[in-house]
Amino acid sequence: MSLQSADRLSASGTDNALELKGVSRYFGALAALQDIDLTVKPGERRAVLGSNGAGKTTLFNCITGDFLPTTGSIRLFGEDVTRFPPHERIRRGLRRTYQISLLFGNLSVIDNVYLACRGVSRARFSLIRPSRNDSLMQSAHDLVRAVHLDDASASMVSELSYGQQRQLEIALALAGAPRFILFDEPAAGLSPAERQDLIRILNDLPNHMGYIIIEHDMDVALRVCQRVSMMHNGRIFKEGRPEEIEADPEVQELYLGGGFSHG
Ligand SMILES: Nc1ncnc2c1ncn2[C@@H]1O[C@H](COP(=O)(O)OP(=O)(O)OP(=O)(O)O)[C@@H](O)[C@H]1O
Ligand SMILES: [Mg+2]
Repeated sequence: MSLQSADRLSASGTDNALELKGVSRYFGALAALQDIDLTVKPGERRAVLGSNGAGKTTLFNCITGDFLPTTGSIRLFGEDVTRFPPHERIRRGLRRTYQISLLFGNLSVIDNVYLACRGVSRARFSLIRPSRNDSLMQSAHDLVRAVHLDDASASMVSELSYGQQRQLEIALALAGAPRFILFDEPAAGLSPAERQDLIRILNDLPNHMGYIIIEHDMDVALRVCQRVSMMHNGRIFKEGRPEEIEADPEVQELYLGGGFSHG
């Protein structure tokens, strides 16, 4: 194959969405992540399960650039971003949601989403200052609908239920057409009905949009991903299809034996 056609292939999306090699992160003497190898294909949906303190959020922080890894490398769609600041990764289509809510309570749902869309687009086209009747507003409405908040579009964030706030956080992460999203426990604290809603929202995302979801609830995880990675004490100790993971004796032992306690 000529070099040129190899370049074209790589530009046309044969690269992995995400590729971590030998990633470790220390906090003093504590190894929060140890020698993590992780590959996620474009459009793939991955669940990361693990006990409290396993290193799941630290893994996200290293992927987003909120923390630099102590060792190892991180590639995003083929590009080495290991030392890139967070905004450079956002520019390349990476988004995240946080385990703890960071919403503006005094804004309406639609205004929150509109500002997120404008923020992302301004980062790309700094000279454009859009008026309100533009395509960004249309995008904001589309995103509000995608997370099933149409009926609450004009509500203030402070009036939303906890579950609705979590749905809004997903809309914010979807602003600017990301290619890859990291969801940090979006189902935590949700009622059974809200969990069903979340599962539908995730499964209805465009096919090309890959993600990693941190999830304690095996029933949710199994329905929103194609592969599962199991973490314990800073390491990924098992990876497989949801049904393989569910049937795995070691995983069952950890879950039933109290190794996975969730507060
Ligand atoms: N900024 C930090 N400074 C020091 N230690 C940290 C920091 N962030 C995380 N840790 C430690 O690293 C380990 C992994 O934490 P992390 O938050 O990644 O776990 P987690 O798998 O997300 O847990 P949980 O299920 O409770 O959210 C824990 O021992 C935690 O105390
Ligand atoms: Mg966490």
